[in-house]
Amino acid sequence: MEVDRIKQEIEKRLTNDRYLHVLRVVETAKAFALRHDISVEKAELAALLHDVAKCMSKQELASYLEKDPEAAFYRSFHPELWHAPVGAIIARDKFGVRDADILQAIRFHTTGRAHMSPLEKLIYVADLIEPGRQFPGLDDLRKEAGKSVDAGMRAAICHSIQYLLSKQVQIFPSSIHCYNEHVIRKEQ
Ligand SMILES: [Fe+2]
Ligand SMILES: [Fe+2]
Repeated sequence: MEVDRIKQEIEKRLTNDRYLHVLRVVETAKAFALRHDISVEKAELAALLHDVAKCMSKQELASYLEKDPEAAFYRSFHPELWHAPVGAIIARDKFGVRDADILQAIRFHTTGRAHMSPLEKLIYVADLIEPGRQFPGLDDLRKEAGKSVDAGMRAAICHSIQYLLSKQVQIFPSSIHCYNEHVIRKEQ
């Protein structure tokens, strides 16, 4: 499917605010990809589709998760996380995306995981630092992301874990694996 067609489809599935967020993530991801020698086309497609399931109802998301053995596990965690694995399923089944790296970038954009590819990290970070975001510590995140994809990912996962701890909510296991990997890397 062509990028313009995908944009039209995404716009139909999202609220206006969410669609504008997606467009900002696309621009952020493309610029980031160009700077760090990652495929701009893949970055654009992954960014466009990353929140494709964001505006679906909890019931609809749950029914997708139930049908997918790999994704069913998400049901024991916060519903805010569900749109990521469901987004990957929709990107594959409704948008015909076959590239495993793009699908993984969508699937793990809310949680991260250990051994993320450069594209996965790029989408995770771009989602967090797009120009519409506002939260304490954002300037530091943007500065780190300007150095390298890994530096950006390290700062981003540390920020996310800290935020979740401050709220005393569950932390998805793969986020902890991601955090551990990046903290170890920092010390080496
Ligand atoms: Fe998302
Ligand atoms: Fe997003």
